[in-house]
Amino acid sequence: MSTIILAIESSCDDTSAAILRDGEILSNCIANQEAHRLYGGVVPEVASRAHQLNIIPVVDLAIKEAGINKGEINAVAFTRGPGLMGSLMVGVSFAKALALSLEIPLIEVHHMRAHVLAHFAEDPKPEFPFLCLTVSGGHTQIVRVESPSQMEVIGKTIDDAAGEAFDKTGKLLGLDYPAGPIIDKLAKEGKPVFDFPEPRIPGLDFSFSGLKTSILYFLKKELKTNPDFISEHLHDICASVQDRIVSILLKRLRKATRKTGIKTVAIAGGVSANSALRAGLEKMGQKESWKTYIPKFEYCTDNAAMIAVAGYFKYLDGAFADQSVEPAARL
Ligand code: KG4
Ligand code: ZN
Repeated sequence: MSTIILAIESSCDDTSAAILRDGEILSNCIANQEAHRLYGGVVPEVASRAHQLNIIPVVDLAIKEAGINKGEINAVAFTRGPGLMGSLMVGVSFAKALALSLEIPLIEVHHMRAHVLAHFAEDPKPEFPFLCLTVSGGHTQIVRVESPSQMEVIGKTIDDAAGEAFDKTGKLLGLDYPAGPIIDKLAKEGKPVFDFPEPRIPGLDFSFSGLKTSILYFLKKELKTNPDFISEHLHDICASVQDRIVSILLKRLRKATRKTGIKTVAIAGGVSANSALRAGLEKMGQKESWKTYIPKFEYCTDNAAMIAVAGYFKYLDGAFADQSVEPAARL
């Protein structure tokens, strides 16, 4: 008999549901929330209200696209945290209610672990142990992955996340939120002619707040003599910022491979959708003789398919949650 898992992800501003059968993704549906663009960032209250509106249609669609019926689902996996409390609450409550009504088990999933395990949504899958650079809007980590359940963070940001560095730069440049994909696109027609400083942080940790400040001062100075500086140099500014963020990430990753001796290297999280990071990883991987793994775009940013994959590993281990489980914003 096959095992079917319904997964729900609602940690930030995207409502997503996926169906997985015996490790294979049958559907992965996402409702994006456009409203946050108006505010230049995710507004928690707006996000949780939109999750409430979206969750039933998204789950229905995932079931329909997978071509299954509700009665065939064996377990409900959901993101317990980390994330926005109000957003998590919608997904967790829905998952609990559904599991209760269908009389099937619940599986709680850690959002950041799921980003790492997104690599198991399709072939080729990385072999253990591997290093995963997990870069999103809220996190920047180098994770040493020994098994689906054994992971250790060996490097992390001490201030902003890489996604935040993109998004905050975008705000300074007057771009919409989230600015990461916009900067990626604009950078394609620019050159990294402006030199932004690299942080001096010991070990495997990251820092991006200094970069943000130096961009701010750089723009202030240039705008004094040329009020049109941003519009005249937008592509080159984007290319320069992106180049620096990517070089910070890849240099740390290289340091981690040398320190651990692990040469199987993966990237995950929303920022792993960045074209310069993907190309840079391939290039460095060839030079350093790494085996590199880059997820499909749809499995980089927040999605329920990765929650389903992580949930399936737990299902096989019999690691279920009970109805007393609560969302954990800082899991
Ligand atoms: O993993 P994710 O979807 O949500 C979180 O868990 O945070 O990551 C969202 C982040 C945002 O900061 C967004 O700007 C960034 O990923 N992002 C990108 C790209 N696509 C998404 N950053 C740079 N280049 C991209 N192509
Ligand atoms: Zn995420």
